[in-house]
Amino acid sequence: MDRRAFITASTAALLVRPALAAPSPIVLRPATVSQRILPLQYQTGPTQLLGFNGSVPGPTIRAVQNETLTVGLDNALDAGAAVHWHGVRLDNAMDGVPGMTQPLVAPGARFTYRFTPPDAGTYWYHSHYLSYEQVARGLMGPLIVEDSSPLDVDHDITAVLSDWRLTPEGELTEDFGNRHDIAHAGRMGNFAKAFLPEDVTLRRGERVRLRLINAATDRIFPLAITGLDAHIVALDGMPLPTPRPFDGPMLAPAQRMDLIADVTGPDKVALVMRHQQGAYPLGEISIVGDVTPRPPASITALPPNRADVPDMQAPVLPLVMQGGAMSGGHGGGDIWAFNGLSGMKDAPFARVTRGESRLIRLVNDTRFAHAIHLHGHHFFEMREDGSFGDYRDTSLVMAGQTLQIACLFDNPGKWMLHCHMLTHQNGGMTSWIDVV
Ligand code: C2O
Ligand code: CU
Repeated sequence: MDRRAFITASTAALLVRPALAAPSPIVLRPATVSQRILPLQYQTGPTQLLGFNGSVPGPTIRAVQNETLTVGLDNALDAGAAVHWHGVRLDNAMDGVPGMTQPLVAPGARFTYRFTPPDAGTYWYHSHYLSYEQVARGLMGPLIVEDSSPLDVDHDITAVLSDWRLTPEGELTEDFGNRHDIAHAGRMGNFAKAFLPEDVTLRRGERVRLRLINAATDRIFPLAITGLDAHIVALDGMPLPTPRPFDGPMLAPAQRMDLIADVTGPDKVALVMRHQQGAYPLGEISIVGDVTPRPPASITALPPNRADVPDMQAPVLPLVMQGGAMSGGHGGGDIWAFNGLSGMKDAPFARVTRGESRLIRLVNDTRFAHAIHLHGHHFFEMREDGSFGDYRDTSLVMAGQTLQIACLFDNPGKWMLHCHMLTHQNGGMTSWIDVV
């Protein structure tokens, strides 16, 4: 290579690598954390939590699409640990499900995760051991996979939505296995918040990418935003072919939503949860000053990730959600069931040959909403007219609703399929698919 070509090549490499690319290897160290959750006006002390590297949420891990990421898990808990990389189409051995894809990491022990994320976008990581309790205590954080072309935005902001059940003193209530919660909508908090960066201020006219991650164990957030003119550009990490106006969507547990938005002001951007009594504030960012806005029409689709297009002639498998309060019985031994079976069984829900597709009819025969998550794959939500809808890893299915999803199973291994209302998962709403 002559000198000129060398300079060009290395400059290009510098330009395409995001400034915040994580130095490998990263170490995640789960341990107890004392951190203020409630705002100061509550006059409580900090809350005793579990966090990665001393904070809740854990550090934002920034990976680069198609580059290998190495993360050591250094377990400083007095309990077992395992980390799941939610939404990443990775090797099964790195999926973080103790007892299925890896041994549980004992207190004081270490496990090294190494994988190459094929998809750019917004993902997250969380405990997958007693996750209804460990995630509720704070063991979660953002995983951002950068693509190689930087986006024309002024800020890239991640908001981690969370929901806490606290005592008047500001401590977590210790009722993680509460049977009433399991049988209803899950362990809902009495205080919700979005963790936002504290060192950011916006100017009117700026354009932001806002990455919303619902890390709550059970709460569905009906969202609204003031001070921004926003479009949805990705769901569960996957770019939408056409950006969609942000019109007060729901974000179910584990789902993500990327927005590109223009700051319209006047004085702050506020993220709120809509509910009958009005708007519940989740978090805000102040606006100071102005810049010349970009033309609104220039919000375009993000570069697509690889879509595995399923075969629509594939067999249809019903997955009937059963159980919970105010509903008929089922054959499973716990509060919730899929097709009459509660909890993890030796036999999978389905065994699929690699490269084959399945249509799964998600039938919610219960009085509660469920957020159904499949590990290791994305799938299409099918529209009523049979066309492909959104490409996701977690689907919200409301009480009484049926939703058909279509998946090309191209990733071999044992993959969990469960309700991501983690309290429901704990109450039996869980199974797995074997891709052989
Ligand atoms: Cu984020 Cu098995 O889940
Ligand atoms: Cu559920």
